[in-house]
Amino acid sequence: MDAAKDKSLYINTIGCQMNVYDSSRIEDVMKPLGYTMTDSVEKADMIVVNTCSVREKAEQKAFSFLGRLASLKKKKPDLIICVGGCVAQQEGKKIVRRVPHIDIIFGTHAVNRLPQLVRHVTETESRIVDVELTETIDEFTPDSGYSEAGTATGFVTIMRGCDNFCTYCVVPYVRGREISRHPDRIIEEIENRVKSGIREVTLLGQNVNSYGKNQGLCTFPELLARVNKIDGLQRIRFTTSHPKDFSNELIDSYKDLDKLCNHIHLPVQSGSNNILAKMNRKYTREQYLDRLDRLRKVCPDIAITSDMIAGFPGETEADFQETLSLIKEVEFDGLFAFAYSDRPNAKATGFSDKVDDQVKMARLQELLELQKYYTRKKNERFVNKTVSVLIEGLSKKQDFYPDSDGKEEWTGRIPENKVVNFNYIDTSGISSKMKPFAGKTINVVIEKALSHSLRGKPAVSGSPVIQEGENNHAA
Ligand code: SAH
Ligand code: SF4
Ligand code: F3S
Repeated sequence: MDAAKDKSLYINTIGCQMNVYDSSRIEDVMKPLGYTMTDSVEKADMIVVNTCSVREKAEQKAFSFLGRLASLKKKKPDLIICVGGCVAQQEGKKIVRRVPHIDIIFGTHAVNRLPQLVRHVTETESRIVDVELTETIDEFTPDSGYSEAGTATGFVTIMRGCDNFCTYCVVPYVRGREISRHPDRIIEEIENRVKSGIREVTLLGQNVNSYGKNQGLCTFPELLARVNKIDGLQRIRFTTSHPKDFSNELIDSYKDLDKLCNHIHLPVQSGSNNILAKMNRKYTREQYLDRLDRLRKVCPDIAITSDMIAGFPGETEADFQETLSLIKEVEFDGLFAFAYSDRPNAKATGFSDKVDDQVKMARLQELLELQKYYTRKKNERFVNKTVSVLIEGLSKKQDFYPDSDGKEEWTGRIPENKVVNFNYIDTSGISSKMKPFAGKTINVVIEKALSHSLRGKPAVSGSPVIQEGENNHAA
């Protein structure tokens, strides 16, 4: 293949942060073959759909996008169409029956092998399927820098797969068995990406608390302590944490590590012990609450978010009321809630006592309505406070706020993971060093709490940069 010739790559990423991370790696592995990113499907020489299978809707989204590519492929027979991610892993070559105009089907473990697959397709003009699940992690370091240079935040996968087999979940089947990356490789990657500009890292795994287990590597809190020492890195986040493995050592990390953000995402799924047992979650409502109590003793104002499933098979009205009462008891900062959906291979798909679709949707609405009150309440606690915002860039909606008055709108996050939008009052009289840019941290006074974000103004025009090592939470 002619590496010198510029070709364009379009990636459609559906699903969780793991897929976002994998899409960045796809960008990195394709660079040496001459591919650069494009925002235009029509102009692309290669299109990748990185799919998600967690709920039926996500899977449908992938197939409807793929369906729309048929006419494009007819016009441009040389166009390479690839399906990656969790649906590719799940369905393998069966996808061809539904979408015949596909060239490459590659599974969740095949990201680094994509260049070989592309070469095969262009040289032999035939289709290829690679959905092999491997037992070792194939490390890759790009030789021309990481793709997200110029952005403030980045994801780093620290482990792959899941061994928990929650009865509703497809992930163990599409991501394979749990395996952790070596800590040295993780540190190396974060250091390199800090050099390319990121200031905040989110460590990714389906269950980060069991990092290193059975592999003789360090523990997750030990890994966090190493990441905390990286010069130039300001903030550390991680997701997802499983409540059953939420250890006292991890709680101590919040006390000891100044870069660890004052936020935890701890998916609970249901407030009913009966349903938690049927889900195979391996903790009770009481154990979940006890862990949060212990955490709140160390960080009294920590932001807590969670995931919930409404209408799991066998969920009675009484079970659902337990979920609502848990929401009231914890007062979550935010919730991601979903209607239960049958998934291939997942055990609950075979459960007989399915909840009626209408009941499921009504419960989901009621749950979201209740949470709206707490999200707002939790956002309101920041009004009139000065918060530290890591700027992520210019806001997409430049004219959204009536008071923006033609000034530039910027967006970023506070350690509690809430989005803050603000306009920069006057950049004309200040040095370029003091102007906002992605990766800079500034103090913002919050004026308004909205349902999904906060709105404020810089504490002082040209507010000073807060140096790295800021204390993100109350010790
Ligand atoms: N590893 C994470 C979750 C990954 S999936 C954890 O253990 O919490 C993200 C979320 O999708 C889950 O927390 C769950 O709330 C939701 N989810 C997963 N499977 C689902 C299904 N079959 N139906 C509805 N929601 C589901
Ligand atoms: Fe799915 Fe459970 Fe694993 Fe999370 S812990 S990925 S919900 S099986
Ligand atoms: Fe979806 Fe796969 Fe993530 S199923 S949620 S993209 S691990």
